[in-house]
Amino acid sequence: MPTKPTIESFKQFREIVYSFRVSRIIFSALDLDLFNVMGHREWAIPQLAKRLKVSTRGLHILCRNLASVGLLVPALGRYRTSAIVKRYLQKESSEYRGDYVRLMHRQWDEWSRLTDVVQTGVPFDSQEPETPEYRESFTWAMHHRSQEPAEQVASQLSLKSARSFLDVGGGPGTYALAFLHKNPKLQATVMDRPAALEVAKVLATQSSLESRLSYQTGDFINDKIPGKYDIIWYSNVLHIYSPAENLKVFRKIKRALNPGGRLLIQDTFLENPKGLRPLETNLFAVSMLLYTDTGNTYPIQDVRAWLQKAGLSRTRLIKLKKGTGDWEGQILEARLPVPTSVPRRIAPRSI
Ligand SMILES: C[S@@+](CC[C@H](N)C(=O)[O-])C[C@H]1O[C@@H](n2cnc3c(N)ncnc32)[C@H](O)[C@@H]1O
Repeated sequence: MPTKPTIESFKQFREIVYSFRVSRIIFSALDLDLFNVMGHREWAIPQLAKRLKVSTRGLHILCRNLASVGLLVPALGRYRTSAIVKRYLQKESSEYRGDYVRLMHRQWDEWSRLTDVVQTGVPFDSQEPETPEYRESFTWAMHHRSQEPAEQVASQLSLKSARSFLDVGGGPGTYALAFLHKNPKLQATVMDRPAALEVAKVLATQSSLESRLSYQTGDFINDKIPGKYDIIWYSNVLHIYSPAENLKVFRKIKRALNPGGRLLIQDTFLENPKGLRPLETNLFAVSMLLYTDTGNTYPIQDVRAWLQKAGLSRTRLIKLKKGTGDWEGQILEARLPVPTSVPRRIAPRSI
């Protein structure tokens, strides 16, 4: 994608339209499982073509292009995989991002159904019930996506006086675990669907923070949010739902906060006044159109208005260090006031 994605000339139009080609060569490499087949060896094209059962001409051009974007390294007519590929795209790496890459890969076909979805306004898979396998793989993808931002966010938000933390729609619990790691006195709960919580349990076991994490199975749109918490974390959930649904959740969250408790919302927000930027936030709304019934992306001002309606009026925007955190590095905080104590009635002095 060009650095300035506005189209003001036919040349820019062409550049933007053709930016799909880089994604396409990467997806063809993934279709062929090329990065895993190559492993750590150096390959001559005819030898690799034989192994992959593809044409030498096709593979030659594909590999040259993969090298031109830095995924392969050319070496005297041969190719080997780059450090990035070895680290994130090969199964044997401990940092393999397989589920997240598969999620991106599937989107090639799914985004091709956009015209139908714009016509109907209904997600393309609305007739297909979600399977636990899909939810589990999606949850791993969320973990792969959130690992780095979670650490950065947890080290910049002070939760010192908090003791209890609820991660609403917390999926793999990546954020809950990062906050537990930074705040030794904190106990956390992840609320999500059963298949997502299975992933959270695996990660908690691996982290040695298991004893401070608990799990709440439930649907926070249709069920209550049980318990009382000092902090409620609502990350990457806002965009899945409509304004009315978010308002409903904020009301439940208000009831689940201790006095003085804080709701922290992390998401991608549109910039006012026109809501045309950031482009990434607008593109994300397209994903919501494809995959959800009512999701969208919103300006912060709208979210503040819903919070106020829900009785969470003390809001502030926390800005993280540039280039850190998820999205644009902003967290919207809403605090439940501590009730001021009712003045004691003083009985009139009898004369
Ligand atoms: C996009 S993921 C975000 C995961 C995590 N909070 C993060 O920031 O990485 C949204 C999560 O919300 C969960 N979720 C969405 N709607 C839900 C609902 N109504 N009840 C329970 N969980 C829900 C999904 O299962 C998923 O794990």
